[in-house]
Amino acid sequence: MLTALDFGCGNGRIITRSIEAGIGEFQGADTYYGDGEIFARDGETVPPATRERIKLLMPGDALPFDDDTFDFVCSNQVFEHVVDLRGTIAELARVTRPGGVHVHLFPTLELVKEAHLGVPLIHRLPAGKRAAWARLFYSRAYYAKETASFEEWWQEMGTFLAEKTFYRPRAEYDAAFGRHFHVTHVEHQKLEYHLGRSRLRPIRALPRLVPTRLELMRVGTAVHLRA
Ligand SMILES: C[S@@+](CC[C@H](N)C(=O)[O-])C[C@H]1O[C@@H](n2cnc3c(N)ncnc32)[C@H](O)[C@@H]1O
Repeated sequence: MLTALDFGCGNGRIITRSIEAGIGEFQGADTYYGDGEIFARDGETVPPATRERIKLLMPGDALPFDDDTFDFVCSNQVFEHVVDLRGTIAELARVTRPGGVHVHLFPTLELVKEAHLGVPLIHRLPAGKRAAWARLFYSRAYYAKETASFEEWWQEMGTFLAEKTFYRPRAEYDAAFGRHFHVTHVEHQKLEYHLGRSRLRPIRALPRLVPTRLELMRVGTAVHLRA
């Protein structure tokens, strides 16, 4: 049976789906941004069968799995939060079987609209310039409607951006993955999958016209790795 890891699994949605669909033996691992309380709180909504497959990591921990454990490793919106990129990738390589495959989706520096705040280009600005810039976009920013003022929103979101998010250019990720894996970019396959579900033929044909660079600027990268 396929053994798989959802790295940075959050609430374990993929693990739950895999159990429902009877696909492989999925496990998860997550640091919960270094906050075990998030796991305790959000974990209540997670089905017990999923919860028991999730390992709570401390930042900097080795992965709690033997060498060559997984056939497949995936992550969604995780690598932009990883502090120690080389160490993390080395650990993921260690727990992957020879010939194992990874798929990782995450935003990179090339993005136009920052992925967590919804503010254009804020991730490219120096720390001291961010608040004034963000204020211009507050009314349409992500989660703004859940806050009473810009200050309240910025306190949480600005801190999250500064302390938990590390944007790197795609080439830096490629070099780091390339130390352990054969790297293939699959932004177009991802786009084809999404747009291919449209009932309108011009929309289904669109991916062929969209340069990879545009897709990177829109949502970030999608990489396929082979160990
Ligand atoms: C934006 S959430 C995505 C969660 C989930 N993958 C999903 O698609 O819903 C990012 C997750 O990555 C986790 N994370 C960040 N750095 C990590 C690391 N070094 N190791 C494992 N998980 C990490 C965070 O704790 C968080 O749960």
